[in-house]
Amino acid sequence: MYVSVLDGFYKLLHPCITVLVASVSRSGRPNVMACAWNMPVSEEPPMIAIAIGRESYTNELIKESGEFTVNILGREYLEAIWICGTRSGRNVNKFRLANLTPEPARRVKPPIIKECAAYLECKLHNYVDSGECTIFIGEVLDAYASKEVFSKDGWNIEKIGLPLHLGGRLFTIPREIIQPKLRK
Ligand SMILES: Cc1cc2nc3c(=O)[nH]c(=O)nc-3n(C[C@H](O)[C@H](O)[C@H](O)COP(=O)(O)O)c2cc1C
Repeated sequence: MYVSVLDGFYKLLHPCITVLVASVSRSGRPNVMACAWNMPVSEEPPMIAIAIGRESYTNELIKESGEFTVNILGREYLEAIWICGTRSGRNVNKFRLANLTPEPARRVKPPIIKECAAYLECKLHNYVDSGECTIFIGEVLDAYASKEVFSKDGWNIEKIGLPLHLGGRLFTIPREIIQPKLRK
């Protein structure tokens, strides 16, 4: 027996780490949105892809400036994620609304977000329309993370409490680290 999930098919591919994508307007006004559809797509050169709704303000700003930052944050900022994922920067200042602090990035014009634990600064490589979204492929110009919660082995999941999006208003936090057994 199967449950039919075509109209929520993407939840089969969740949970996904939810990041904040920051962008900036020509006049220098920053914006931020929640984004669960993100992934690495190349190591050499370093590149990532994000799928961003074509109606969103972020979509317009990334096309306009050709740059964006990806900001990763812990579970204590779940409400901020929700605000950034349910309001549009066309109408409100989400930094103020969500109590987030924009700070200058190292290599790009859009800001990074002070409260976050890790950052990827990206220059737009190219983009392709995909249904109601645009897939933006960004070259990662710089990437850095707080030593408190990240090492060469990856996230210290107990310390960071990474919120992963299940769908709707539901999130989950990874708790266990496991390794595949090696066959002789
Ligand atoms: C947890 C969560 C994850 C989201 N992930 C995405 C995503 O991957 N792509 C997308 O286009 N919108 C996503 N959204 C919705 C956008 O964040 C939302 O449309 C936002 O209001 C756009 O803001 P903007 O108009 O200021 O750019 C997500 C919302 C939430 C709450």
